[in-house]
Amino acid sequence: MKKVILILTLVGFVFAGDLTTPIPRKIDINNELALAGKELFFDKALSYDKSLSCASCHNPKYGWADNRAKSIGVKNQIDDINTPTVLNSIFNFRQFWNGRVDTLQKQLDDTFHNPIEMAMSRSLIEKRINYTSKYKKLFNKEYIEYKDVLDAISEFVKSLITPDSKFDKFLRDEVKLSKKERDGYKLFKKIGCITCHNGINMGGNSFQKIGTIYKFEDCVGDKFSITKKEIDRCVFKVPTLRNIALTAPYFHNGSSKTLKDAIIKMAHFNLGFPLDKEEVENIEAFLKTLTGEILYRDEDE
Ligand code: HEC
Ligand code: HEC
Repeated sequence: MKKVILILTLVGFVFAGDLTTPIPRKIDINNELALAGKELFFDKALSYDKSLSCASCHNPKYGWADNRAKSIGVKNQIDDINTPTVLNSIFNFRQFWNGRVDTLQKQLDDTFHNPIEMAMSRSLIEKRINYTSKYKKLFNKEYIEYKDVLDAISEFVKSLITPDSKFDKFLRDEVKLSKKERDGYKLFKKIGCITCHNGINMGGNSFQKIGTIYKFEDCVGDKFSITKKEIDRCVFKVPTLRNIALTAPYFHNGSSKTLKDAIIKMAHFNLGFPLDKEEVENIEAFLKTLTGEILYRDEDE
């Protein structure tokens, strides 16, 4: 075990640079398509019993996730996994906790057909969407196909990026971090959090295990559940830490209620480091600098 800690610490030193880039202020999108996608995102007609829209679980009020440990789908069924944020998901190399798909379109197809989430079929979606004239206008089309729906929602989700966080401004040399935030960032790099949480999304670019040092007991929905390979037990896509302060509870099973608890658990299970109170507070202060500007605002708010 000591060896693993040594290697991770060494990697931490090698990676002492920033190893990340700011979120861009703009991203190329097709505005008309994204606008149609926005309507669809908030439309409950997209779930079997018309009880849920995408926004019921990816709620703008809770950092575009929800505030539950596990999400609740159609007919009040409890899902076996926590709802991740959709913010900046375009920058993730794969989608879902276990990364089982590589595009937003495939992610949507999976979500629609999931009997616990939207419980829809392709034909029922086409029927519901073509029922009113609203979408014909938005899409400028007589008949809207399932693929149009997937493309439009993906385009809207793509637009949900959060530039100009304090950390991004710091990376661009526009502001200074406070002492606590700076100490937290230093520690984040020194003990090796950055070995997994790096890149534009501070995560979202590799698969890693939870419990590299001490075994994490509950790994429901891990990569093993897809591949059935022993090596994939407890392996997940490293989640983004962008806007992490907004999306409690934490982990795939929602087992950490607070950000502090998630930091303590990560340091324990994945690095074998006990952190003192001040160190936890410093890392938390740093993670709070990752909250960006949410460009999109719900008009009803
Ligand atoms: C019942 C709640 C629920 C609804 C409704 C729902 N989602 Fe999700 N969403 C989830 C959960 C739970 C996951 C994680 C599932 C997993 O990883 O297996 C997820 C994952 C995602 C992801 C992947 C994020 C990542 O970081 O991997 C995206 C993108 C997404 N949903 C978008 C949408 C869109 C768009 C809709 C509407 C069509 C939608 N979701 C409807 C609960 C929901
Ligand atoms: C070996 C890779 C690795 C290291 C090192 C690591 N993490 Fe993680 N981190 C992960 C993975 C994988 C997950 C997802 C685990 C899960 O949900 O079960 C995760 C999840 C998290 C979460 C919860 C994210 C969410 O959306 O629920 C936070 C917060 C976090 N890590 C912070 C840290 C901090 C702080 C450190 C350093 C003390 C750290 N991580 C070190 C791989 C790593």
